[in-house]
Amino acid sequence: MLGFQLAITFHLAGIIFWLGGLGARLILLNSANAGANEGGRSQLYQLQQKIHLMMEAPAFVVALMAGLFLVHATKVTFNQPWFRAKIALVLGLIAVSLIASRQFKAFNASGRVGQAMGLFAGLVVFTLLTLVAVLTKF
Ligand code: HEM
Repeated sequence: MLGFQLAITFHLAGIIFWLGGLGARLILLNSANAGANEGGRSQLYQLQQKIHLMMEAPAFVVALMAGLFLVHATKVTFNQPWFRAKIALVLGLIAVSLIASRQFKAFNASGRVGQAMGLFAGLVVFTLLTLVAVLTKF
């Protein structure tokens, strides 16, 4: 029981810092200025990379490890529709993160600014739907 409670604690803490870091990077992406010079672009790129490497990625690993432990502990399977939905939404969140990283690379290389607010809306909607799936277990 203590193992389960600890796993939930690590799972939720991991999710908070993973998605919090992603949200922070998307706000930075939204403030990227198309007219910025190379030095300014590189500064923004390095800042988002620090958030990605120091906060988002380690927190994702913690959330995933604890989530896999919970899969084992609760014996949840893909036969349960809420779990299928949850994993599809988690893949959506991972896609948002990968697209954000690509857009930062493009901004750093050429100054092209992407669709940060669309990605931010995706982050909010996917997070809400994931919580609905896991808390209602429909
Ligand atoms: C990274 C992949 C993930 C995996 C493999 C995973 C797996 C799991 C499992 C198996 C449980 C236990 C369910 C049960 O009590 O029957 C759980 C609990 C939970 N997960 Fe995830 N999860 C993942 C990502 C997420 C994300 C992205 C969110 C939120 C946006 C989330 C929110 C929650 C919450 C709130 C609980 C606690 C539910 C409760 O105690 O009733 N999980 N997760």
